Amino acid sequence: MQFIDLKTQYTLLKEQINSNIQTVLEHGQYILGPEIETLEKQLADFCGAKYALSCASGTDALVLAYLALGVKPNDVIFTTPFTFFATAETIAILGAVPVFVDIDPRTFNMDPAKLALAIEAVEKNDPSIYPLPKTDKALNPFAIVPVDLFGLAADYEPILALAKKHNLKVIEDTAQGFGAKYNNQTCGSFGDIACTSFFPAKPLGCYGDGGMCFTSDDKLIEILRSLRVHGQGIDKYNNTRIGINGRMDTLQAAIMLPKVAIFPEEIEKRQCIAEIYTKNFNTCKELTTPLIPENCTSIWAQYSLLAENSSKRAHIMSALQKEDIPSVIYYQKPLQMQEAFSDLAYKAEDFPVSNDLKDRIFSLPMHAYLKESEQKKIIEIVKNNL
Ligand SMILES: Cc1ncc(COP(=O)(O)O)c(C=O)c1O
Repeated sequence: MQFIDLKTQYTLLKEQINSNIQTVLEHGQYILGPEIETLEKQLADFCGAKYALSCASGTDALVLAYLALGVKPNDVIFTTPFTFFATAETIAILGAVPVFVDIDPRTFNMDPAKLALAIEAVEKNDPSIYPLPKTDKALNPFAIVPVDLFGLAADYEPILALAKKHNLKVIEDTAQGFGAKYNNQTCGSFGDIACTSFFPAKPLGCYGDGGMCFTSDDKLIEILRSLRVHGQGIDKYNNTRIGINGRMDTLQAAIMLPKVAIFPEEIEKRQCIAEIYTKNFNTCKELTTPLIPENCTSIWAQYSLLAENSSKRAHIMSALQKEDIPSVIYYQKPLQMQEAFSDLAYKAEDFPVSNDLKDRIFSLPMHAYLKESEQKKIIEIVKNNL
């Protein structure tokens, strides 16, 4: 059984994908060809942002966003420690400082009440209010990066209110949540800039690396466009700022176009599968199912459950493995525990929810083509091994 089945989707879209690839090979515009603009327009319309800018990966999308907003060394960017490494790596590589904010144990997303404390702690330089990284430099609060983890929108209403109150930028990391809804607004349209990833295993993926920034700000899109091509000015021999080579290949855009057409339908299929999982596991007192708040929908990048403790989780996962069913732990090591962030001198217990969840969480196979019989088998094995 596949954890994420890309082959079935390819079989379904084969003719169109192959023909789109052929078209690119024939027109030969491998860099910023016409398919790029079509994809950008379609996805901006899809999420309700005014502009989209494709780029080489979700990681580059974050780098471009931070650069466009003018992040400087020692600027603080608040984000969650329960996310993929790239969310905070891109902060650190620019010399800014990630300040971690623990998550809500049921949604796995940034807890706005803790965000308020973290902002106050930085403003007053007082780690007794909320754990802060060790540094002798003066920290300047700059931005918040909410992550739409596992496909669920972060809690934007209170987060955007805090950003406004404290004059902070917001960069939405929607690498896992692009297309989810919060109060009927689509992920990809929150904050000053939103960033997503088209890594193949994402709900909307390409066949290599790819990503996208979204914004509705006329000035920011111009800066992003320039940054994507070495800080280009009026033409390629004029460079007005330091940028990167962050373009997405035309071939990847061509591959994605047929996928975009069926994306809404695939989201619905994922939602049906998640509903069946939850209906079945909600009756098990040994498991905690993911909570989707009433004002939200998830695109279910992952379906994650909590076991009672690490040995019970290990037992369930090994029972699944014996039947050739993959399950994965996202995330075994919250970011405060990553060696690469050891200079921040955080302790694992600084973020007790993330620290607890790392021992109990596990994700089950989730994709639009999961068969009823496969799901039945997964549910049965999990339930028989609680
Ligand atoms: C939350 C999050 N942010 C950023 C990224 C980085 O995206 P990419 O792998 O396309 O660079 C990912 C990818 O896994 C992610 O899950």
